[in-house]
Amino acid sequence: MEKGIQIAIDGPAAAGKSTIAKITASKLGYTYIDTGAMYRALTYKALKEHIDVYDDDALSSLLEQIVIELVPTEEGQIVRVDGEDVTEEIRSQEVTSNVSATAAQPRVREMMVEKQRLLANTKGVVMDGRDIGTAVLPNAELKIFMTASVEERAERRFVENTKRGIDRSMEELCQDISNRDKADTERIASPLKQASDAIFIDTTSMSIEQVADTIIHHVEKRKRP
Ligand code: DC
Repeated sequence: MEKGIQIAIDGPAAAGKSTIAKITASKLGYTYIDTGAMYRALTYKALKEHIDVYDDDALSSLLEQIVIELVPTEEGQIVRVDGEDVTEEIRSQEVTSNVSATAAQPRVREMMVEKQRLLANTKGVVMDGRDIGTAVLPNAELKIFMTASVEERAERRFVENTKRGIDRSMEELCQDISNRDKADTERIASPLKQASDAIFIDTTSMSIEQVADTIIHHVEKRKRP
């Protein structure tokens, strides 16, 4: 049987990483791992327990105690924290505004990277995030760095939010995305950065299908018999 490869997809907020990663994983029969959901799940729990999202010690001991599960289903990935389904809750505005702070904490990152490496242990995995190609899976056979203009990303998020019933103007979304770009690229611990061996894809004027096809094309070139 053919061995799968590890595919790392990184890029800024709302670049379409998870949509593309899901499609790619499903086309290849690979496991999809959304690492952003793990930071979001921790942030959700911290907010619920009134833990300061800048307190690395408190957050890392919380992370030691909780169980975060990413469960693939026919309808998409379900995220559970201590058995509670938080799939919708982790996309709330409150979590979105606080997650960059949680994700900037060095000990939290160390622990998350450890967990993510364990999850990727089986071959045939598509993992998306900010530091997958640079820190989590530095030996991934295929690394993609995906981006799009701030306006295009805000528009995509607007469409997604409308489906979820979240009311946020284009102006606010552009501001949210720029703020998160700044926080994610300027943090000290594993900032968002393109790995030197990653393939750069600007998806601004590409369709979802075109991006997925481009990635599959690169996978075909790398797959081992
Ligand atoms: O992809 P997302 O918007 O769900 O990610 C949420 C936040 O988590 C984002 O602001 C950056 C952070 N993150 C990270 O620092 N490293 C990852 N591997 C994934 C996400």
